[in-house]
Amino acid sequence: MRIPRRAESADRSTLAMTFVAAGSFSAVLHSTDHQILYGRRGTGKTHALFYLSDLVEHAGDVPVYLDLRTIGSAEGLYTDSNLTAAVRGTHLLVDTLEAIHEQLLLLAFEREVSDPNGLLVALDALAEAATAVEVVGEVEQETKFGGSDESSVGVELVMSPNAKLSAARRRSATAESRLRRSGIERNHVVFGPLSRALKSITRALGPARLWLLLDEWSSVPLDLQPLLADLLRRSILPTVGITVKIAAIERRSQFSQPSSSGDYVGIEVGADAASAVSLDDSMIFDNVRDRAQEFFGQLLFNHASTRLRAMIPQPPRDVASFLEATFRRNTFPELVRAAEGVPRDAINIAALAAQHAHDARIDLPDVRRAARDWYLRDKQTAINTNSTGRHMLRLLIDEVVGRRHSRIFLLDQLDARLETIDELYDARLLHVLRRGIADRKNPGTLYDGFAIDYGCYVGLLLDGDLSSKPRDRGGWLNSANGVPPDEFSLAREAIYLSELG
Ligand SMILES: Nc1ncnc2c1ncn2[C@@H]1O[C@H](COP(=O)(O)OP(=O)(O)OP(=O)(O)O)[C@@H](O)[C@H]1O
Ligand SMILES: [Mg+2]
Repeated sequence: MRIPRRAESADRSTLAMTFVAAGSFSAVLHSTDHQILYGRRGTGKTHALFYLSDLVEHAGDVPVYLDLRTIGSAEGLYTDSNLTAAVRGTHLLVDTLEAIHEQLLLLAFEREVSDPNGLLVALDALAEAATAVEVVGEVEQETKFGGSDESSVGVELVMSPNAKLSAARRRSATAESRLRRSGIERNHVVFGPLSRALKSITRALGPARLWLLLDEWSSVPLDLQPLLADLLRRSILPTVGITVKIAAIERRSQFSQPSSSGDYVGIEVGADAASAVSLDDSMIFDNVRDRAQEFFGQLLFNHASTRLRAMIPQPPRDVASFLEATFRRNTFPELVRAAEGVPRDAINIAALAAQHAHDARIDLPDVRRAARDWYLRDKQTAINTNSTGRHMLRLLIDEVVGRRHSRIFLLDQLDARLETIDELYDARLLHVLRRGIADRKNPGTLYDGFAIDYGCYVGLLLDGDLSSKPRDRGGWLNSANGVPPDEFSLAREAIYLSELG
């Protein structure tokens, strides 16, 4: 119960010890490529960044961790809808650079770097360059006029970092024309001497590499994200000697946006200098149950043993004896199922189950009740205000659990891409078992395999809402080779959302 639920509330040296790498994830993360680390809430993004930070620091490199939630001083400035995106964006960019500057300055005093004087000079240059960074917004405007032949008017606003209107405002409309704001506000970022300053920083740090770790990307307002991404792509990503890792929630991220010149603003994920790594997908464990159990067993053991050492004289020495002492037979695999690949959910459900079990070992009913309670308390409330999401979940539960007596189902990828499905997935009410299942009988159609959240399903079981025993309808999705049984027709078995009503 004492395991911290958020990585930022534990201290860094403990985090380095408790981290469990799933598969090749650690190696992928440690590469010097720029990466975007996608993962739903609680999948371990922050923990992974802290772990990486520790790793590179031990290797002699320089990690700079930045939580984007804590950037800037003025509360709510970035979300203030009275200000244009250009003004808010400028503030965000300057504040971000200032935060990086501040961390590096701290480092210049605390750590040995190869050229301390050079670093200080370069940091001054960075501070200077930051003040020249600005977002320039153009609002395309349409004119409504009574008889004149004006067609379109461009208004260009150039804002200085301190948000005062500082430059030209052009207008070429005739007096009688009525201006109507329409079209989209297009922004681009002006950098000034930023790249040069960054280059001299890496030179002063060299041969050590600078690792810029940006956490909570998705807390930045959606319309400003492409602007920040643009700053990264054009000034930081190309700088030799810097590696950028960004932790983000896929559904709540927008890294690029088309610009007025037919180009784009921001980072094109995958195509550009930055590639995407999905923690969600690495937690699917290629559908092999044993690996999921291994991962979560190690995770609970690591977290528990750092605390147990201070509590009892002889704590369990390995994972097996820890699990043996904590869970009754067949109970731990059920906890892994209930966790659905999300470490924070695993920790929360284990803690609730431990409460139910009191001083006895945790038993199967404890895990089931805990999973249901966690579902009701945490997950379900996430879509309380989302009525289409609630409706869709109800329809899916009626069809999959009620009629098919299963919790696993297939969706045509066209359906799987729907906004509502995505929202339910983001809220951890649906989980992906496998993406892109090809249908041999219908080439060209791809399916995704989903599961309804274990806690939701088990809640229905416990409350006696289910009349008969569940059938293992989509069990093949979880098996090692993952091939459907012979008579299985993907097209017939898939759920078509339009037919659900
Ligand atoms: N690979 C792992 N090894 C050990 N513990 C982990 C691992 N991944 C996550 N955890 C633990 O799970 C909990 C949640 O992780 P973390 O806070 O990093 O999630 P997050 O993805 O950053 O979530 P959020 O999006 O809410 O910030 C923490 O207690 C963390 O220590
Ligand atoms: Mg986090």
